[in-house]
Amino acid sequence: MIDIQRKDLLQEGAFIGGQFVAASSQKQFPVYNPYSSAQIASVADCGATEAKSAIDLAYTAFQTWKSYTGTERGRILRKWYDLQRAHEKDLAKILTMEQGKPFREALGEIRYGASFVEWFAEEARRTYGDVIPGHQRDKRIIVLKQPVGVVAAITPWNFPSAMITRKVAPALAAGCTVVIKPSELTPLSALALGVLATEAGLPPGVLNILPTNNAPEIGNVMTSSKLVKKLSFTGSTAVGKLLLKQAADSVKKVSMELGGNAPFIVFNDADLEKAVTGAVASKYTNAGQTCVCSNRLFVQEGIYEAFIEKFTSAVREQTLGDGMTKGVVIGPMIEEKAVASVEALVSDALEKGARITCGGQRHGAPQSLLYEPTVLADASTDMAVFRKEIFGPVAPVFKFDTEEEVIAMANDTEYGLASYFYGKDHSRIWRVAEALEYGMVGINSPSVSTTVAPFGGVKESGMGREGSKYGIEEYLVIKQLMWAVQ
Ligand code: SIN
Repeated sequence: MIDIQRKDLLQEGAFIGGQFVAASSQKQFPVYNPYSSAQIASVADCGATEAKSAIDLAYTAFQTWKSYTGTERGRILRKWYDLQRAHEKDLAKILTMEQGKPFREALGEIRYGASFVEWFAEEARRTYGDVIPGHQRDKRIIVLKQPVGVVAAITPWNFPSAMITRKVAPALAAGCTVVIKPSELTPLSALALGVLATEAGLPPGVLNILPTNNAPEIGNVMTSSKLVKKLSFTGSTAVGKLLLKQAADSVKKVSMELGGNAPFIVFNDADLEKAVTGAVASKYTNAGQTCVCSNRLFVQEGIYEAFIEKFTSAVREQTLGDGMTKGVVIGPMIEEKAVASVEALVSDALEKGARITCGGQRHGAPQSLLYEPTVLADASTDMAVFRKEIFGPVAPVFKFDTEEEVIAMANDTEYGLASYFYGKDHSRIWRVAEALEYGMVGINSPSVSTTVAPFGGVKESGMGREGSKYGIEEYLVIKQLMWAVQ
């Protein structure tokens, strides 16, 4: 059981129309702690019936919610933020138990997630339109921004709380209502947010949460419903493409935050200590299971061996284990197939000549989901790790000679989410920042994620931006009023 103060934060029903309810089929599915493999909950397994009913209720609630002023919506969001911060330790424990990330990191995610709610509580009253000088003497033109309507959101297991608030907060601030399907691996954090939303005064039906073990069934209802006007998805590029095809039939507005293959480039003139610390942070956060984790480390010839040595000793210091144990900085991977995928990538790299300088295997019992933080030196472009999103604690390190060569390698991927580079030469900083075909570039910074900056990708990493002043635009539509003055 999860040791929390607010026991009611642990809900197992679907959150529909402001109530926690069982699935009409009475079916449930288990939720496991990925560290211990113990079952920690049994959650309502929603299907098409619940999805349709949630969408209908969201549509009804939209008729009222859209007429609230931005200030009124903002006040409720602010209260939701305050409650998330007041119960952050409980929320973080729930998160660690179902997802595995260390408690400190989970607490960081809860604060990060709550910061979107705080930000968009403020933005709710700033959805400004425009007045355009008329093109004819009798014409006045006004631009209004209005909520798009019912939003369907599908969120991943790697950030079970923050990826929800990053979508729901701007949607609610804009005046939309939401039906959300969290990952079947981590539904508890989502449901806990539902409890606090009700307590904050969110009217019934404005937010609905559908746990399910049958994602395609709910996804089909969401994408085919004519009442749903917007689809926001965070997850793999493969699933994103499928959803885009399905959403095309009813021409929905879409936001897609998909996979990444982030380069992390270290030039000869970089501050080596900072580059090493940055590489550890960027690679091993959440056991390497984030879309913005550095996937390929490119280090210039002149400092390659020094980097490998320092990086390897820093990685050896990372402690693996139960996320609830003090001092643990790398928790388990989410499930067996995630570990198997990492094992296959490491084998492929070794067959093609990579050299392991640390890690390279499962840690502990044979069934353990802990995978040792791993460094693969002498990586080459024919290895699968060059093309595939690793999504695990494995860092392949490639050697490069010139700026042109590394830009070509960094951009040689269908992905375009996050990228990073370390160096001091100002002219080169501009050149490289402009040449990288990515939605986000960290310059001497291992992180690009914050509420106040736009998060999102180009190429097959998706479309749309989350967070920042741009995030709310994804939930608004523009209407022009052409007014002939009598
Ligand atoms: C992710 O989507 O995996 C990254 C989330 C973030 O850093 O905001």
